[in-house]
Amino acid sequence: MDNIFKLGKKIIEEASIFVLKNYNKIRKISYKKGAFNLVTNVDQEVEDFIIKKITSKYPNHSIIAEETGSHKKDPKYKWFIDPIDGTTNFAHGYPFFCISIGFSVNDELTFGLIKNPVTNELYSAFIKRGAQLNGKQISVSKTKKLHDSLLVTGFPYDKKAKISNFNNFKNITLISHGVRRDGAAALDLCYVASGRVDGFWEMKLSPWDVAAGVLILQEAGGKVTDYNGNKFDIFSNKIAATNGFIHKELLKHLE
Ligand code: IPD
Ligand code: CA
Ligand code: CA
Repeated sequence: MDNIFKLGKKIIEEASIFVLKNYNKIRKISYKKGAFNLVTNVDQEVEDFIIKKITSKYPNHSIIAEETGSHKKDPKYKWFIDPIDGTTNFAHGYPFFCISIGFSVNDELTFGLIKNPVTNELYSAFIKRGAQLNGKQISVSKTKKLHDSLLVTGFPYDKKAKISNFNNFKNITLISHGVRRDGAAALDLCYVASGRVDGFWEMKLSPWDVAAGVLILQEAGGKVTDYNGNKFDIFSNKIAATNGFIHKELLKHLE
């Protein structure tokens, strides 16, 4: 397993250099399903690069990737790839985006890697070995009350959906230090893991958005459930992720 983890680290560092080189040099922006869901040529090229690197070493591993979907092979080993999480930021030159690589064995998250190319920050975790930022152990904050917390959330691309996040955003803004909307769910989870914020919630995310970040958060001592406090799995529709202390209180206020 250590060799696979090592390979993941090598791949994400190489992909990061590629993304940074292409930052502000995007050749093509198109729209996926929906009027606001952007994708750039860089998303596609980075994803191709990552998949090629994985399959050249482990041709039998399954890969679930945002731009090319499911590459189903041995169901025991699964890679979850978001080549650029925060594409809208990336496309606008707003420096908050990352590459996210998660890996599971028999559907148990085993390692997670998230790299912000702009700040050169690599968040990583291996199950039962804690979480690191650039090799240094990280842990969640010790904030005990929502009132003293800084939070972060995100909004789905489908802006016409009946259930929106606006009520939650407003209600929790009014009873906390504030709610940020940074635009990259994987990095949002890392910000909870490293104690920069105390909690995060969002709905309608995909497995490639959360696979790596959820393990990083758990290994940093955080708690993750759905909005009802049920066990979270990466296919769940709603995620609430906190330092653990404020978890119950946050759930109480989420619609
Ligand atoms: C998006 C980001 C954003 C979240 C969206 C995601 P993408 O991923 O994580 O923060 O609010 O729901 O889809 O499209 O930039 O990879
Ligand atoms: Ca994403
Ligand atoms: Ca993406």
